[in-house]
Amino acid sequence: MTRLAGKNALITGAARGIGLAFAKAYVQEGARVAIADINVELAREAAEEIGASAIAVEMDVTDQTSIDAAVSATVEAFGQIDILINNAALFTAAPITEITQEDYQRVFDINVSGTLFTLQAVARHMIDKGVRGRIINMASQAGRRGEPLVAVYCATKAAVISLTQSAALNLIEYGINVNAIAPGVVDGEHWDGVDAFFAKYENKAPGQKKREVGESVPFGRMGRPDDLTGMAVFLASADAEYILAQCYNVDGGQWMS
Ligand SMILES: NC(=O)c1ccc[n+]([C@@H]2O[C@H](COP(=O)([O-])OP(=O)(O)OC[C@H]3O[C@@H](n4cnc5c(N)ncnc54)[C@H](O)[C@@H]3O)[C@@H](O)[C@H]2O)c1
Repeated sequence: MTRLAGKNALITGAARGIGLAFAKAYVQEGARVAIADINVELAREAAEEIGASAIAVEMDVTDQTSIDAAVSATVEAFGQIDILINNAALFTAAPITEITQEDYQRVFDINVSGTLFTLQAVARHMIDKGVRGRIINMASQAGRRGEPLVAVYCATKAAVISLTQSAALNLIEYGINVNAIAPGVVDGEHWDGVDAFFAKYENKAPGQKKREVGESVPFGRMGRPDDLTGMAVFLASADAEYILAQCYNVDGGQWMS
């Protein structure tokens, strides 16, 4: 299908995992994508695999100069940006008594500041060019409620949901729709890291937490990156024009709101 024909997307953290699945799905729908990642080597491999409709862009979402350079490089390559997916993020876990200033700051810098200031840079570009664009922020079920060992990550994702609402209400006057997606538990390297945290703090065997969460999903298994692509395409498509300020759960029935 070609629901995104002629559209140009910038996807942060797209060198692997969910972001990479988004990039592939967008290209299948007729879009061109900039795979923007701090791991530029992996981003290059991903772009090569996807082919002529993808470019790799080096980007650190915690660095304003890097954000501006990534937006400029994408605009130079494609002419304009129609869709932004704020996907780059980092997970962390620790009991409240062991959270450090450094870890808190590092994770907030990527997940919250990175989302806000990338959104800001792309929104400025869209407004300048008169692009009626789409912005999708990656939240999480972790943003819906706290978890005993995941205070910092949960707080960052709650902030992403709130920023999505405020940005949507502010930017709709320019025809820019902002929404969010809240995945549940999605298998991949991200969750390998999550599993390692729980192995440490809950004395679980490696892989045990993953098995347990997979079994607890009403659908009957963990999510896969491809389970998220339908929503990401829909929110960027013409069908979603009247939708803004929402955060959609795509989590196999784990969360109801
Ligand atoms: N995997 C899950 O279970 C799950 C669940 C809920 C929400 N999410 C969210 O979905 C999104 C994608 O998750 P994933 O599982 O694909 O994660 P991932 O860890 O596999 O991929 C994250 C990507 O972001 C990149 N990145 C890290 N720091 C960066 C920075 N400073 N600047 C630019 N890029 C940077 C990494 O290099 C990596 O390619 C994230 O926002 C995550 O919080 C994931």
